[in-house]
Amino acid sequence: MKIKPDSMLDVGKIRKDFSILNKMINGKQLIYLDNGATSLTPEPVIGAMNEYYGEYNANVHRSIHSIGERATREYEKAHEKVARFINADFEEIIFTKGTTESLNTLAYCLTKRLKEGDVIILSEMEHHSNLVPWQQLAKEKKLIVKYIKINEDFELDLEHAKKIIDKKTKIVSVTHVSNVLGTINDVKKIGELAHDAGAIFIVDSAQGIPHLAIDVKKIDCDFFCFSGHKMLGPTGIGVLYGKKELLEKLDPFLFGGEMIKEVGFEDSKWNNLPWKFEAGTPNIAGGIGLGAAIDYLNKIGTEKIREYEEYLTEYGIKRLNEIGVKIYCPKNPKIRSGVISFKINGMHAHDVVALLDREGVAIRGGHMCAMPLVTKVLNENSLCRASLYFYNTPEEIDKLVGGIKKAKEVFQII
Ligand code: ALA
Repeated sequence: MKIKPDSMLDVGKIRKDFSILNKMINGKQLIYLDNGATSLTPEPVIGAMNEYYGEYNANVHRSIHSIGERATREYEKAHEKVARFINADFEEIIFTKGTTESLNTLAYCLTKRLKEGDVIILSEMEHHSNLVPWQQLAKEKKLIVKYIKINEDFELDLEHAKKIIDKKTKIVSVTHVSNVLGTINDVKKIGELAHDAGAIFIVDSAQGIPHLAIDVKKIDCDFFCFSGHKMLGPTGIGVLYGKKELLEKLDPFLFGGEMIKEVGFEDSKWNNLPWKFEAGTPNIAGGIGLGAAIDYLNKIGTEKIREYEEYLTEYGIKRLNEIGVKIYCPKNPKIRSGVISFKINGMHAHDVVALLDREGVAIRGGHMCAMPLVTKVLNENSLCRASLYFYNTPEEIDKLVGGIKKAKEVFQII
């Protein structure tokens, strides 16, 4: 296997941890290039969840028998691992179902702070999770939603951001990395603009944290949301990070067991952070699985992952350019993640996806859950997207390119 000579990432060894990569799909070995939708799950993560169910399947924070205590310990350890991974404190890590639930929780919890005419700033490159909750909140409370524009090089236009973020702005919520364009946004800078205006700053890092080293203190965001399943963890688990002083001021979103300290017939007192925001029996196995995913990423090293993905993305863009497809991504490799969206003239994305599937190659096609960006900003009905992760190889990209060539022949596009 050819990998960048100075890279220390042993992709051959890493791939052995992902048994699904040996699967035959339509008689061909699976080539999984749909990591933006969900990543694959390595054996240690599957093992950690199996161990919970097989060895200490008990509820947390209530049963004081041995397996109950072990479940509590492991579940809390997972919060600690997440906290360390993003340079936060334990109390600041709330487990949710995923990015969507984290953002909905925020939209709900922040409602009380907003009044008619207040402004929420999003960007034109948001996926639906960071768009629909705010849109609905705006409808209900008569708020105004404005969008930071995208410039010709598929970056957020910071001059436009400066113009629209003002004293009426109460919330700025932007994506860290675009799931369509792959653009890595300068969230630190956008956060400064938000804070200068006195607004709350939220980062949707669903596509960021799987690929980049994260330090929430350096970014200085107020809230930071992500999903476990895009970073080697299981589905149904995600994180809402919030600055402690802000989380303390917010009322909970869900009420019930777990999130209370004391309950009477008239009123109740809330539990300490983070449990105040984790009502009911949580996704214990999911949390433990996410902790194992973080152990795995740490073992490989986020810097090495980024370095390798930068190389792989460059290679992918070069190969796709050779066959004349139109690619939508920034020119500067330093602000480009491993997402390559492209269009083949004369072919609908779903036809491309279906023909590639025959070759065992899994990519995504459509509007990528970012309909306004694809249809209104890029003016496309649909796009094809190959989204890479550190277990992908240049050879797999060659197979993608071979598959596209075949698809073009089927459609007689030369
Ligand atoms: N937002 C996810 C994706 O990009 C679902 O595929």
